Amino acid sequence: MPLHLKPGQPVPLGPDPHSFAEWDPDSTGAVVTELRLALRIDFEKRNLHGFVDLVIGRGRNENSTSSPASQPDYVVLDVNLDHIAVQEVCILREKAGEDGQEKETPAKYDLGYETSAFGDAMKVYFPPSPPINCMNETATTSEGPDEVANKILTTIRIKYHTISAAIKPPVAPAPQAPAAKRKTASAVQWLRKEQTKGKVAPLAFSQAQAILARSFVPCQDTPAVKHKLDFKLTVDTSTEESKELVAICSGELQQDWDKTVKDTQAQQKTFHYRQETPIPAYLIAFVVARFERAKIGENSYVFAEPEILDFAQKELSGVCDKYLKTASGTVLLGSPYYWGKTFNVAIMPNSFAFGGMENPNCTFFSASLLAGDQSLTTTLAHEITHSWTGNLVTNKLHEDFWLNEGFTRYVERRILGEIFGEDFRELCLLVGFKDLKKNVDLLTSNNQVHFTALNPGKTLVGVDPDEAFSRVPYEKGSVFLLYLERVVLQGRTELMSAWLKEYLEDFKFQSVSTEEFREHFIRYFRKHDSKQDEQEHGTNVLPQELVGIDIDRIDWEKWLYGPGMPEDVQTGETPLIAAKESGGGQVVLNASKRRKMIDEVEKLVEKWTNGHCLVVLAADAAAPATSCSFVEDLNFIQSSWKAQQVMLFLDLLIEALDKNEFQPTEEQAAAFWSFDETNNVEIRFRFLLFKLKESASSRHREESPALVEPRLEAALDLFFGQHGRGSYVKPLYLQLKNSNRMELARKFFLKHKDFYQDTIAIGLAKSLGV
Ligand code: BES
Ligand code: ZN
Repeated sequence: MPLHLKPGQPVPLGPDPHSFAEWDPDSTGAVVTELRLALRIDFEKRNLHGFVDLVIGRGRNENSTSSPASQPDYVVLDVNLDHIAVQEVCILREKAGEDGQEKETPAKYDLGYETSAFGDAMKVYFPPSPPINCMNETATTSEGPDEVANKILTTIRIKYHTISAAIKPPVAPAPQAPAAKRKTASAVQWLRKEQTKGKVAPLAFSQAQAILARSFVPCQDTPAVKHKLDFKLTVDTSTEESKELVAICSGELQQDWDKTVKDTQAQQKTFHYRQETPIPAYLIAFVVARFERAKIGENSYVFAEPEILDFAQKELSGVCDKYLKTASGTVLLGSPYYWGKTFNVAIMPNSFAFGGMENPNCTFFSASLLAGDQSLTTTLAHEITHSWTGNLVTNKLHEDFWLNEGFTRYVERRILGEIFGEDFRELCLLVGFKDLKKNVDLLTSNNQVHFTALNPGKTLVGVDPDEAFSRVPYEKGSVFLLYLERVVLQGRTELMSAWLKEYLEDFKFQSVSTEEFREHFIRYFRKHDSKQDEQEHGTNVLPQELVGIDIDRIDWEKWLYGPGMPEDVQTGETPLIAAKESGGGQVVLNASKRRKMIDEVEKLVEKWTNGHCLVVLAADAAAPATSCSFVEDLNFIQSSWKAQQVMLFLDLLIEALDKNEFQPTEEQAAAFWSFDETNNVEIRFRFLLFKLKESASSRHREESPALVEPRLEAALDLFFGQHGRGSYVKPLYLQLKNSNRMELARKFFLKHKDFYQDTIAIGLAKSLGV
């Protein structure tokens, strides 16, 4: 029996400590096999209302010996009562033969009897004995997503509406809400029409990862449970303001887009989406906006406000096809794309807390990343890769998050290497490695060294995964796979690809733990192990491709569970790169070729830190060079380098500032303002960070320590109100805070807090003490 928690107690330890769902596959847990949403969006009340039908499967697990008698007579769901008001719960009977006829019988349920810092539990009881026609008994043995072997299916209908923070009643709606004040984020962000590009219609969208699905759908909000999705979203289109509104969800549209959109007389429109491939609840997503669509690939559209649609179309044209083809072809060796036909992209407002989110069939992509020169569309290689690593094979628990993000970063950079060259891959790896170092240092100095482990295990219990979010699972995960490629498999990327393909095939439609990954890797490379062959067949034949490979050298414990920077890669500026030159002999390019883009950057950094420049202006052609032009240098690199090189240039200068190895001259400091012209948010972010750090240490400081120069203050103000991505705003606010400009940080935050998504705003408010 579940615990009845007293307010303020930490999250109970379940199979997933961040969810109340009792899905444990070794027991007869009741799990959602299909989630059907029928909601209406109301911009005036800022809520969603309607119902969710949850098809719950109960029954014997193949590996379990328990009898049907031990099937649970209830299901436990996650629901966040700060944001959801439940109105009615019933069991749905579908009458055989009478098409579409449904009968609802009220169901017994407990709400909020267990409660945590992140949400509440809801327990729905099944009828004592299965009523005739109410339960479908199925016993298929088919493979794949349709499998419901030995499961009894019961459909629960929950009628509910969401509660908008703005109009929420002052008293918490939960019957036994914790006395201790709890401030939880909502997945849904609402934008007034004035906050949109067109200023014509309002806009709303959701972001459910990591554990926010429960704030707008009662569900089993754990990545361990995957289910199909059916999503009907109804939009009022009766007014001048709302007539162009459309809904986009994480599935495939079941109707003709053009016909629906062009029906200008309709008072309301229902958009019906289906997702046949099982997904975890964190991939349930919607955006309702005045969006139009434009073709960007064979089976790809971009959705955006008409004001930026052309721009977005130009920026993304052909990009998805190229990445999809390289991912499923060259890198994953023919691993199929399991998401039907489409791969679309929806352009989110700049307030979106992330650069991209891999919602199936429709990746959400921040408008901040539309740089105008396609330079930041590399993020789409990342989101596309999630179609395999993350969406098809999903991390089982939040502690396994690196299986989503580390794998995705690794594959993403393999794709980029195929398309833009090995030296570009190397550059991206180094930018990532710098990011890892920064994150590890920050977490270590914050007494959070446990979060520097690839799998932080039990240290995540009681912690909101969004709060523990860092680049560690991304970059340490990707470095680990790079270590497997370059050190263990001796640079043979094709072996890595072959194993990845089998990993995806073996675990498709499932959720995987770190240990299952480890076992799989070992099993794969031992398959033809000489010792095993010898025992089984009396032979000792090691296939040629595995000669010299020693998987026993991997220190799994240290890599997977150990804290800090990975030791194997600490030597050398570019991890594992130089190291592998002498090893396998199959390395595609030699070090100097692979380091070409990096070398260019490092050379300029060396010049700058020594007070020299690259572009030397001569007084006249015949005379020797006379003056250094740092401005020319910056113009030159911005027009001829890859954006990622400029990013690395700035990262290295910031690093040099931090280490006191660089004291910019007045001329250099002034030249930096050339970056103020850039449309590239990644470059602008680094430029502002550099300026903040430089001004904190420089001459201006003694005069007015709590301030920054007016020009910088204005530039920061603009940026803070223009971009809401966590990876930009968090470090900038933190930099202000840590350099004694807390008041300024608070001033900016209070001005712009309504612009940010809940997850960002709540974290910042805490960190800034407002
Ligand atoms: N799935 C993530 C975004 C995410 C992670 C949202 C955890 C909520 C909780 C997405 O795929 C991602 O990694 N986005 C990155 C892209 C980058 C690594 C190229 C981002 O937005 O920073
Ligand atoms: Zn990702």
